[in-house]
Amino acid sequence: MSSGFKHFVFALFPFLHYSNNTTPNPTNPIELDNAFSPPFYPSPWMDSTAPGWAEAYTKAQAFVRQLTLLEKVNITTGTGWQSDACVGNTGAVPRLGFPSLCLQDSPLGIRFADYVSAFSAGGTIAASWDRGEFYRRGYQMGEEFAGKGIDILLGPVVGPLGRSPKGGRNWEGFSPDPVLSGIAVAETVRGIQDAGVIACTKHYILNEQEHFRSPGNFEDAGFVDAISSNVDDKTLHELYLWPFADAVRAGTGAIMCSYNKNNNSQACQNSYLQNYILKGELGFQGAILSDWDAQHSGVASTLAGLDMTMPGDTDFNSGLSFWGPNLTLSIINGTVPAWRLDDAVARILAAYYYVGRDKHVTPTGTNFNSWSRDVYGNEHSFAGNGYGLINELVDVRGEHFRAIRQAAAKSTVLLKNSGVLPLTGREKFTAVFGNDATENEYGPNGCPDRGCDNGTLAMGWGSGTADFPYLITPLEAIKSQVASNGGVIQSVTDNWAYSQIAALAKQASVALVFVNADSGEGYINVDGNAGDRNNLTIWQDGETLVRNVSANCNNTIVVIHSVGGVLVDSFYESENITAIIWAGLPGQESGNAIADVLYGRVNPGGKLPFTFGRQYSDYGVADLIYEPTNGSASPQDNFVEGVFIDYRAFDKNNIEPIYEFGFGLSYTTFSYSNLNIAKISAGPYTPTTGNTKAAPVLGNHSTNPADYQWPANLTYVNKYIYPYLNSTDLKEASNDRDYGLDVELPEGATDGSPQPRIAAGGAPGGNPQLWDVLYSATATITNNGTIPGDEVAQLYISLGGPEDPKVVLRNFDRLSIQPGQSTTFTADITRRDISNWDTVSQNWVITNYTKTVYVGTSSRKLPLSAKLPL
Ligand SMILES: *[C@@H]1O[C@H](CO)[C@@H](O)[C@H](O)[C@H]1NC(C)=O
Ligand SMILES: *[C@@H]1O[C@H](CO)[C@@H](O)[C@H](O)[C@H]1NC(C)=O
Ligand SMILES: *[C@@H]1O[C@H](CO)[C@@H](O)[C@H](O)[C@H]1NC(C)=O
Ligand SMILES: *[C@@H]1O[C@H](CO)[C@@H](O)[C@H](O)[C@H]1NC(C)=O
Ligand SMILES: *[C@@H]1O[C@H](CO)[C@@H](O)[C@H](O)[C@H]1NC(C)=O
Ligand SMILES: *[C@@H]1O[C@H](CO)[C@@H](O)[C@H](O)[C@H]1NC(C)=O
Ligand SMILES: *[C@@H]1O[C@H](CO)[C@@H](O)[C@H](O)[C@H]1NC(C)=O
Ligand SMILES: *[C@@H]1O[C@H](CO)[C@@H](O)[C@H](O)[C@H]1NC(C)=O
Ligand SMILES: *[C@@H]1O[C@H](CO)[C@@H](O)[C@H](O)[C@H]1NC(C)=O
Ligand SMILES: *[C@@H]1O[C@H](CO)[C@@H](O)[C@H](O)[C@H]1NC(C)=O
Ligand SMILES: *[C@@H]1O[C@H](CO)[C@@H](O)[C@H](O)[C@H]1NC(C)=O
Repeated sequence: MSSGFKHFVFALFPFLHYSNNTTPNPTNPIELDNAFSPPFYPSPWMDSTAPGWAEAYTKAQAFVRQLTLLEKVNITTGTGWQSDACVGNTGAVPRLGFPSLCLQDSPLGIRFADYVSAFSAGGTIAASWDRGEFYRRGYQMGEEFAGKGIDILLGPVVGPLGRSPKGGRNWEGFSPDPVLSGIAVAETVRGIQDAGVIACTKHYILNEQEHFRSPGNFEDAGFVDAISSNVDDKTLHELYLWPFADAVRAGTGAIMCSYNKNNNSQACQNSYLQNYILKGELGFQGAILSDWDAQHSGVASTLAGLDMTMPGDTDFNSGLSFWGPNLTLSIINGTVPAWRLDDAVARILAAYYYVGRDKHVTPTGTNFNSWSRDVYGNEHSFAGNGYGLINELVDVRGEHFRAIRQAAAKSTVLLKNSGVLPLTGREKFTAVFGNDATENEYGPNGCPDRGCDNGTLAMGWGSGTADFPYLITPLEAIKSQVASNGGVIQSVTDNWAYSQIAALAKQASVALVFVNADSGEGYINVDGNAGDRNNLTIWQDGETLVRNVSANCNNTIVVIHSVGGVLVDSFYESENITAIIWAGLPGQESGNAIADVLYGRVNPGGKLPFTFGRQYSDYGVADLIYEPTNGSASPQDNFVEGVFIDYRAFDKNNIEPIYEFGFGLSYTTFSYSNLNIAKISAGPYTPTTGNTKAAPVLGNHSTNPADYQWPANLTYVNKYIYPYLNSTDLKEASNDRDYGLDVELPEGATDGSPQPRIAAGGAPGGNPQLWDVLYSATATITNNGTIPGDEVAQLYISLGGPEDPKVVLRNFDRLSIQPGQSTTFTADITRRDISNWDTVSQNWVITNYTKTVYVGTSSRKLPLSAKLPL
């Protein structure tokens, strides 16, 4: 979501509601030129037999049965931008004491709040390759959200996946590898939800760049419709959808549909992706909610599977809504069947019960207000009324700082070490360089939504941020380390103070150079970067800084804080550069975590969750689209590279990366031996068959407009979205000149009769047999060095077909091993792990090509291999 549009003005635009294509034929490989998304209706309703959801289903249905039509509409519709305490709030049901649900950013901590923690970014925690850390971070964030009275956490992120390293929001997600992302998202969802808060996995789907993500009027280009990400069915399944399937299987209570179009259909009204794929094939039982103002139609999005509109208004503070009164109207005028609204509400309630939200409710409800840090202020910020206590200053951080520090250290990746690390802390003269070593002179939160690159970089910019409670800078932590030993430490943090840099570097026995590269969400432009990065070079003239220091010091250590891969070609081989570290976006404990690694309190065990290439073209994907390419119509972004992104592209094109996916050094060394593969018997794969039940109708409603009028005694909050009608004349109440013109509905859209189940579906995540374990692999990992260390053992598979990547990651484990000791790495291989998506049968199949398992220490250092026995 975003908080304002500096660079373009959002325009209300009459969207054509339905794809006018004829028959749904998902079996046709999609032509990327002129891509279209086939219609699929009706929208699947909840499945009373979905494993894990029975209790939530029953409670939700019982609750919805008690609701009136207006109350149902209220639960699906946001009250408008800045109308209530959170970035999004639903309408409440005062009659039953059911509160307004509070939805709040972000995937790394609570946005717009005080006394909260700033955790590592998703793309940084991914570098820990540690399931326990993924879960714990999710759980602790969940505790904080619960403590502030938030119901839905707007995260984690697996879209963008990270198709292009320039994508502005990649760092919010985990990794361009779908398996690493899938494991990380599943553990994060479990963690958040075990703490009693609903996770909202986002952005569904193919939201791979910031430029043109939404339709809008651009200062220099006029109106440009939203970009269309055009992808084929196989790539969708084998790459971009994969981690969403893991999130659904882990029980994510909500999924956010994205701003962009997919195959030329707006994501939040894309019936194929929402109805067929997400609620059908993946069996998603929770609620789909829109990204902030990503809903562009009323009836069409309702029938295409949207369950909640956020923040509720058609455009920020328009006071109008595609739902609210319009949803009430579409039910009483019969255009939308009652079961569809019942299902939307039931899904929201089911998510609520699934995570035990009813048991975790904060006694005083939401106890902060996104729009003010004052203790007393307006409850309804935009309207400017409801004065009272709005911020109880509740400190929800607990002892989380300890885990944040540990996780950041565990996510630090050692890329080069000529033996100078770890430092002893007794170096004769330590020098620290770079504005990335020190604090933003405006303070750590001095730039709204972190929209600048001043001082040390510990998170990117945009809505995916939280305010720092404090930010330990590298300089502070290093200085305190050295000074506590009575050493000498000095710094130059102006990257352009060339003579001072040279003078200090000449004296240093060790020089630590901190550099960074930033990116973020498109509504903020930093140094000409409108969200997406314009290039992959280090910012703030960091390469010059590295050169200036290393020219004068033969023991120069470079630490990179970045949102992803940066170009290091100009210096990584230099003899004077004795070590290079990627520290990602570590959050509030940044300095302590890097000091822990530099001084050897933590032996680094992180591995790159993406590839460092020599130049952008090595990544094998087209450049992002920065200028309109199609006039005012949607820029067409054809994902022609298919499943070949990141290391898969380097492998396919035989390009040597600088540091490959999965790579990372330790202060000790490991050796690999003894790969064994055991076949495990599992039944044959059976496609799911049969029919669903009929759509349940939960209660009844009158069709008399008089029953839905504005209550005489309700005080209207300016620009607030309500469910009520302003007139008994339906067209007048709709305030829509096109009222009644959208009555030609897509075929089957209102059909509530039993529907065929989808062969590749059957349970949340997809056909449960995809998770049958078919093989178990073991290997021996030995710490053959002299100090304890962690090794992330990685299992890759070659699926063997001519169109398959050379290898794909399928499993991993982070193992702590004492020196001289060996540990057994054990990894299951599931049916899904060795299957390909077959576009003809619309199912997963194990091809006849020989499959080979590889185990090793990175995507390119795979000493062990074995053919999979048939
Ligand atoms: C809808 O929600 C609003 C805001 O929470 C509340 O004031 C109103 O009473 C609710 N309407 C109904 C019918 O429950
Ligand atoms: C109903 O939706 C239409 C767009 O479909 C919008 O123009 C109109 O303002 C909405 N009406 C209300 C009362 O919000
Ligand atoms: C801080 O950030 C702002 C906005 O990006 C920039 O204009 C300014 O030059 C920066 N200041 C410093 C000292 O880096
Ligand atoms: C790349 O972008 C950064 C950040 O805007 C900028 O400092 C740098 O000069 C750019 N590099 C090139 C080669 O254009
Ligand atoms: C390495 O550092 C030494 C100073 O210790 C300097 O004389 C030399 O020129 C440097 N080499 C490079 C390649 O920068
Ligand atoms: C750097 O140069 C000094 C002085 O020539 C030498 O003693 C030291 O070993 C060198 N350090 C490294 C890391 O090469
Ligand atoms: C440890 O094992 C690795 C990988 O086999 C090998 O390269 C390295 O030389 C070994 N180190 C020692 C100290 O034996
Ligand atoms: C408004 O009137 C309705 C119907 O008379 C009543 O049920 C409700 O409690 C009243 N609400 C308020 C806020 O007074
Ligand atoms: C509905 O009525 C309220 C209260 O009179 C008014 O403020 C609001 O603008 C009206 N809404 C529309 C969409 O006409
Ligand atoms: C019913 O109401 C919806 C929402 O205002 C509107 O879009 C649709 O055209 C209406 N249908 C009929 C048949 O009037
Ligand atoms: C594998 O080979 C068998 C026997 O030739 C054939 O029946 C089967 O269809 C093949 N499977 C696939 C997925 O190609």
